[in-house]
Amino acid sequence: MVKSLETSNPELLKPGIKAPVQETLLTPRFYTTDFEAVANLDISANEAELQAVVEELRADYNRHHFVRDEEFNQSWDHVEGEKRRAFIDFLERSCTSEFSGFLLFKELSRRLKAKNPLLADAFNYMARDEARHAGFLNKSMADFNLSLDLSYLTKHRTYTFFPPEWIIYAVYLSEKIGYWRYILVHRHIQENPEYQFYPLFRKFESWCQDENRHGDFFKALLRSQPKLWNNWRSRLWVRFFLLTVFVTHTITVFERASFYEAIGIHPRKYNNRVIEETNNTSSRAFPLILDTNHPQFFWRLEQCFLSTQKLTEIKESNRSPFVKFWQKVPPMFSIISNMLRLYLIKPIDAESTRATVR
Ligand SMILES: [Fe+2]
Ligand SMILES: [Fe+2]
Repeated sequence: MVKSLETSNPELLKPGIKAPVQETLLTPRFYTTDFEAVANLDISANEAELQAVVEELRADYNRHHFVRDEEFNQSWDHVEGEKRRAFIDFLERSCTSEFSGFLLFKELSRRLKAKNPLLADAFNYMARDEARHAGFLNKSMADFNLSLDLSYLTKHRTYTFFPPEWIIYAVYLSEKIGYWRYILVHRHIQENPEYQFYPLFRKFESWCQDENRHGDFFKALLRSQPKLWNNWRSRLWVRFFLLTVFVTHTITVFERASFYEAIGIHPRKYNNRVIEETNNTSSRAFPLILDTNHPQFFWRLEQCFLSTQKLTEIKESNRSPFVKFWQKVPPMFSIISNMLRLYLIKPIDAESTRATVR
């Protein structure tokens, strides 16, 4: 197993308010897009499916789910050391990405209201869910005497511009990978209740159904836009997005190995399973998926993680900027070449089997 990294002590913005983690390529991002172009999307090619998903979202099955019951009412000071630090880090990362979803969906809903009411409704319901998720996680952080100042985060984070096509690919994948991440933790804790050191994990079963529905909405939206799946360009983009999401996931799981070990999860097995399941699920939306059974697939993903570990060591060393710069070249080159080799593995066509994979 790879060496678990120690989680650093949380930095504070003011007492009890945690400073957001430094933004890197791997921290959850905040997105903005061309709202006008989304409002003008012609969804008629798949309107019935979209309407059905919006009805599901409207039903709000989880409206009574996010309640902090009795179990939360106690002190959590007995959760200490690396387990506590790693758990706070997990809560923060999850809270930030839920909140980032909330901001994007809320803005989309606001800007689409007049021109595309069906999509505006969908984004409004999804913003509702993400606000609940982020709020619940932030309250959990408060149980550990910390919280995130979400309005500070709204103002001070940099927003990455993604054109609507990229938003659809990236958010679809992040919802589906989110589903698999939560459900696999939930199933593991159900089978091994001795690892349930905090009641949050109990909430994951219904919680992940929200992410699943969000993913289904993005799948319906993607299939309503033939240019996002019926040509060679879209095939190249899909490979790129699948690969970058899987590389990022591998790095973040291995970096936080101590958290997974604290709840009895084997980081490598968990990472592989989340990726395999997300990849298989994606065949319902994408024209192709990656070949996760290729003998080099997971090995190369892990090589990317090992190179990022080397980069972190160099960054944190006391060497001069000049030396650091040149030392970074080999691990950077290794990440690029491993990603390129992964990208070139022959993908699996999903269009030809579409009728059978539903
Ligand atoms: Fe969520
Ligand atoms: Fe979601």
